Amino acid sequence: MYRKLASDVYYVGVDDHHTELFENLWKLPYGVSYNSYLIVDEKIALVETVKGPWADEWLDNIRELVNPAKIDYIILNHMEPDHTGALPDIARIAKNATLIYTPRASDMRKSFYDVDLNEKKVEDLEELSLGKKTLKFVHIPFVHWPETMATWIAEDGILFGCDAFGAFGALNGKHFDDEANMELVERESRRYVSVIITSYFKFVQNAIKKVKDLGLNIKIIAPSHGIIYRKNPNWIVSKYDEWSSPKLDKYCAIVYGTMYGYTHRLAMKLKKELLNLGVEVKIDNVSYSDIGDIITNTVRAGVIVIGAPTYDAFPFPRVWTYVNELQGKRFAPRPVGFFGTFGWGGGALEKLQKMAEEMKWEVLEPIVKVRGRPSKEETEMVKRLAEAIASKLS
Ligand SMILES: Cc1cc2nc3c(=O)[nH]c(=O)nc-3n(C[C@H](O)[C@H](O)[C@H](O)COP(=O)(O)O)c2cc1C
Ligand SMILES: [Fe+2]
Ligand SMILES: [Fe+2]
Repeated sequence: MYRKLASDVYYVGVDDHHTELFENLWKLPYGVSYNSYLIVDEKIALVETVKGPWADEWLDNIRELVNPAKIDYIILNHMEPDHTGALPDIARIAKNATLIYTPRASDMRKSFYDVDLNEKKVEDLEELSLGKKTLKFVHIPFVHWPETMATWIAEDGILFGCDAFGAFGALNGKHFDDEANMELVERESRRYVSVIITSYFKFVQNAIKKVKDLGLNIKIIAPSHGIIYRKNPNWIVSKYDEWSSPKLDKYCAIVYGTMYGYTHRLAMKLKKELLNLGVEVKIDNVSYSDIGDIITNTVRAGVIVIGAPTYDAFPFPRVWTYVNELQGKRFAPRPVGFFGTFGWGGGALEKLQKMAEEMKWEVLEPIVKVRGRPSKEETEMVKRLAEAIASKLS
C-alpha cells in the first residue's frame, strides 16, 4: 500500500508487528513503522529504505507506483540498518540509482553494505533538482548518529527528518496526525525520544534551531518512524524541543529494587514523606517496570533517588543496569539521593556514590544506609532526605 503526501510524493513504508524489542532493547507493544517515501518527478527519488526482512513488502509498495528499476536517487538520511537494511535488495533492482548521503555516511555505508551503486556525497544545504521539485539536504549531525541529515522539498514544504520527530508504534493505515490516536502518539514518541535520543539532546536542540533559522515554511513533517504530521507539524517540533530541553521538570523519580522487601519499605516511606511535602513523585520498581519506561520516567526528573539492596557486594543487578543506562545516556546532571539495605558488608550504596562522584552529580544528604530493617532513627533519616529533595524542587 501507499499513501499520498502531496502531488507526486508518496509514503511507501511498512509496519513491523514482529520485532519484540527495538535494537533488541526497547519493547514495542504497538509495533513500529519503517517509513520510506517516493518522489516521482522527472527523476525518481526514494527517501530511505526499510529494515531488511521487510524488503519484499516495501518493494511491492513501490511497484504500485513505479518500476523500481527506474529509481534515479536513493536518499539515505541515516545509515542505521532499520532504514538501510533493504539497501542490497533495491540495489540489485535499481542498478542506475545514485546513493545520496552526507560525506560521513559514505565510509559507514561501505562498512555495512557491499553494493555496486554510484554515490553522491552532499554538503550541508546542497540542492538537487528532480525536475519540478528541488531537494535540499540539511545536515543534522548526531540526531542520533554522526552522519544524519534531513531532506527538504521546498515546493511542497515537506521535511523528511528520518529519526528526528520519529515515534514507536505501527501505523495500521492511520498514517497522518489527523487520523491517529494522538494520546498514544504522544506517549510512544516521548518513549522513543527518551530511549533512542537522550544522549544527543544537545544535538536535537541544535537541529531544531537550525531548521527554525533556515525559516522553512514547513507544511508536513515526515519522519522515518511513526505518523506523518500534516495537520500540525509544529506539535511534534515543540514536543521534541520540550523533551530535549536542558531545563528539567519539578518532580522526584524514585527507582529502586528489592528482593525481600526491606528496601521496598524505605522506598514507600520516602514516597509517603515526599507526597506529604507536596512533591510530585514517579516511582519504578526495577523488577516490574520496563527499563525503557524507567528511562522515560526519569530523564526529565529534577531529582532522582536510587534505592538498592546489596547483591554480591554490588547494587541489585537491575538497579545497576539502570544506572549504566543513566550514564550511557548522559543524563543531565541533577541532585541524586540514595537509600538501600544490606545484610553484612554492604557495597551497593558505595558503588552508587562512586558513580555519582564520577558523573559530578550532587549527592543529597543523608544517604540512607540500613542493615536489614530500619530503626526509628533510620526511618527519621528518610524524612530528612525527603526534605532535602523538596527543597531542591521548590
Ligand atoms: C543473592 C543475595 C546476595 C546478597 N549479597 C549481599 C552482599 O554481597 N553484601 C551484603 O551486605 N548483603 C548481601 N545480601 C543481603 C541483602 O543485601 C539484604 O538482605 C538486604 O536487606 C535485602 O534487601 P531487600 O529485602 O530489599 O531485598 C544479599 C542477599 C541476597 C539474596
Ligand atoms: Fe537511528
Ligand atoms: Fe530509526
